[in-house]
Amino acid sequence: MTSTSFSPPTCSGPRVAVIGAGRVGSTLAQRIAEKNIADVVLLDILAGMPQGIALDLMEARGVERHDRQITGTNDYKDTAGCDIVVITAGLPRKPGMSRDDLIKTNAKIVVEATKNAVANSPDAIFIVVTNPLDVMTFLAWQASGLPGRRVIGMAGVLDSARFQTFIAMELGLSVQDINALVLGDHGKLMVPVPRYCTVGGIPITDLMDAATIERLVERTRNGGTEIVELMQTGSAYFAPASSVALMVEAILLNQSRLVTAAAYLEGEYGLRDLFLGVPCRLGCRGVEKVLELPLTENEQTAFKASAESVRQNIDRAKELIASASES
Ligand code: NAI
Ligand code: 2OP
Repeated sequence: MTSTSFSPPTCSGPRVAVIGAGRVGSTLAQRIAEKNIADVVLLDILAGMPQGIALDLMEARGVERHDRQITGTNDYKDTAGCDIVVITAGLPRKPGMSRDDLIKTNAKIVVEATKNAVANSPDAIFIVVTNPLDVMTFLAWQASGLPGRRVIGMAGVLDSARFQTFIAMELGLSVQDINALVLGDHGKLMVPVPRYCTVGGIPITDLMDAATIERLVERTRNGGTEIVELMQTGSAYFAPASSVALMVEAILLNQSRLVTAAAYLEGEYGLRDLFLGVPCRLGCRGVEKVLELPLTENEQTAFKASAESVRQNIDRAKELIASASES
């Protein structure tokens, strides 16, 4: 009788560790696996939870027809050797809260998660999702000891996707033909830039009046809050997961995509030593270049105000971390 069993495969493809298997983390694992981008290791502090989600996603493979491995764990050793680490661990907002209200709780979680993850995947590129995004990306970078270009915050892809969606809905056109640009922090001071938003190559400033554009800009700034207030039980996760998946794919497939992401600034836009949403080329080395766009005086003022609020929150986070370690 011939043997019908095979030995397990000895080589594996790219692996992504997703720290935090909540709504964003689990949806991201699904996106990455079902788009056939990489194998996924899902880690959470809750015992059994990431294992259950991973098994559920594995069982879906029979229908979705892909061979990506999804593993659930509570042990960082199982994340060893990952190419990308995505940090989604931490609390989401509740109605009435701002993203900044999450600083204290999430700072501790993100610092601890980053230290554990980098110890096991020292060559990985880190993508941070936990809010407040720009501050948590800074803390993750500090905790990781990695070069700035290998730590990236996800927000600009999401904020731009929201702006694109609202433009498409307003004009009754396919979102596929729309490009939008949102700079700055992932908060109330984010800077959507209508001058650089186009529909089929035509600037939206030629297609809509100023009042309409301002309404869509305001809805974009309020995009996360609008969803929190509708859901009442958490924050957005489908569009955030899609946005992270796009970044993971750009890095693993070395696509050289131009996206907005929270990147470490070393003099670009006259700013240094902070993470802020700027257009950058994303490829196998992480942030490969920050694109410095010419900005009008008003755009520059808004961008500087956004940077200033991030800097203040970084200082606040550092003080909270210092006082927590003293007590
Ligand atoms: P969630 O509550 O569904 O999931 C968070 C998960 O983190 C939970 O499963 C929890 O057990 C886990 N966790 C907590 N402490 C941990 C630790 N020390 N180690 C490992 N895992 C830990 O929340 P959701 O909706 O997935 O959001 C996650 C974070 O992402 C929130 O801070 C949220 O505000 C942020 N977010 C950011 C976005 C962005 O554009 N940057 C978009 C959407 C969410
Ligand atoms: C959002 O913008 C929660 O930051 C997240 O939906």
